[in-house]
Amino acid sequence: MVKNKLFWKIFTSFAALFSLSLACLGYLVSTVIKGYYSNPPLGNDGSDGKRIIFSILLIFAITMAAGFVIVKIHTSPLVAITHIAQNFAQGNFTRKAERASSDEMGDLAKAINTIGIELQSRTQTILDDKNKLDAIMAHMSDAIITIDMEERITLINNAAKTMFGIQKVVLDKDYLWEKVRNEKLCTLAREIIKTQATRTSEIEIASPEKKLLQIHLSPIQIDKNTYGILMVFHDITELRKLENTRKEFVANVSHELRTPLASIKGYVETLLGNNALRYEDTQEFLAIIMKHTRRLDNLIKDILELSRLDSHDLKIELHALDIHPCIKNIFSQYQEHCAGKNQTFELDMPHHIPAVETNEYLLRQLLTNLLDNAIKYTPKNGKIGLKVEPINKSVRFEVSDTGIGIPQEHIPRIFERFYRVDPARSREMGGTGLGLSIVKHIVGLHHGQIKVESKVGSGSRFLITLPQQQTKQPV
Ligand SMILES: Nc1ncnc2c1ncn2[C@@H]1O[C@H](COP(=O)(O)OP(=O)(O)OP(=O)(O)O)[C@@H](O)[C@H]1O
Ligand SMILES: [Mg+2]
Repeated sequence: MVKNKLFWKIFTSFAALFSLSLACLGYLVSTVIKGYYSNPPLGNDGSDGKRIIFSILLIFAITMAAGFVIVKIHTSPLVAITHIAQNFAQGNFTRKAERASSDEMGDLAKAINTIGIELQSRTQTILDDKNKLDAIMAHMSDAIITIDMEERITLINNAAKTMFGIQKVVLDKDYLWEKVRNEKLCTLAREIIKTQATRTSEIEIASPEKKLLQIHLSPIQIDKNTYGILMVFHDITELRKLENTRKEFVANVSHELRTPLASIKGYVETLLGNNALRYEDTQEFLAIIMKHTRRLDNLIKDILELSRLDSHDLKIELHALDIHPCIKNIFSQYQEHCAGKNQTFELDMPHHIPAVETNEYLLRQLLTNLLDNAIKYTPKNGKIGLKVEPINKSVRFEVSDTGIGIPQEHIPRIFERFYRVDPARSREMGGTGLGLSIVKHIVGLHHGQIKVESKVGSGSRFLITLPQQQTKQPV
């Protein structure tokens, strides 16, 4: 009580006011009494009574006015502080309370200013956190949706909108089943709402794009009284495709290895178990074993080559190469091969050919795979051609033959691994079905293009266009 300065201030003000009014009243009464005795009234004209009432009213008015001023002085800082507190509540922290006096009102102003600073810093932290969260959500590649226990969407990021082709969502109002038309997803969400257990599953969506999604659902507490479900979607379409390709590749490799190995095993067993074999038969069996061994060797070489080209760690150096000598060298080498099959091989290349940003080893691999095919799939006395010409800012390589040709429906698939138009025939010729996959990889590394023209019974033309210069990718 003693320390309460404001109390004492108000108390003394009122005591002074009260004393003053009492003093005035006392003075008035004494004046009236004195006047009465010194000058007794002869008749009552009522003027004294009126004067007394007037004086009392005057004293009352003065007391009221003085009281009003005193109350106003003492309460005005409180009104100012109330305004400032209201501003703080609305998020306006620009005004501060004035600390005009050293009493409790001053302490209150100080306290409200401290609360303001604290509130402002907390509001800023919340705002920063929200901005951070918004930025993360907006730029996240994984799609995120949260729903409440009534299945209303409470949060959705851009990736989720794109993934499900959603234009607009009214948060806390639109239902999940309204915006995402996927039976399995809605059933899963309902199940998690009921069981409150975390779950991972896969769903397929048909539109806007056919996709396979991995979905992780977990119950969350959004705020003190709100519970909901967090759903994170991860696009695994490419991953699954890759997994399937890899599985298919392993199955194909195993199959391709097993066939020649089974043959080799069979012939070796025959040779070992039969001492009375004729010399010619032994020679024939050994030749077959040799053929299958070569096939195995080719297969392993091609698989290694493909995995080398596939490997992301591999740094393939491309540099400006004068392709003229390289092509000449390939030409003379293949002229001999063609001669063995009575085929003619023609080269059409201008004297000056611009340098191509490539790698001699890759260019050789590319052309030899195409020339091998041309020779392999062209009967005796056929014609093989290699044409090299600059076109715009590229160089075009054309490998043509007058061979068996490729049926139109097979053309889109011949670049797939192990794909062969006639597997038995290709195998017989020692083919693995990997040659054109290697070609496709090499062309891809050069950001070039492949075109195939073919007519069954007339021949084929493989057109490869490689840019003279690679556009530099930003690091
Ligand atoms: N010039 C061509 N004429 C006709 N068919 C062709 C020609 N080039 C490719 N093909 C067809 O495309 C298939 C795939 O060719 P690819 O070079 O990938 O395999 P391959 O020649 O069978 O085996 P290898 O791995 O030894 O090259 C071949 O099996 C063949 O059926
Ligand atoms: Mg081939």
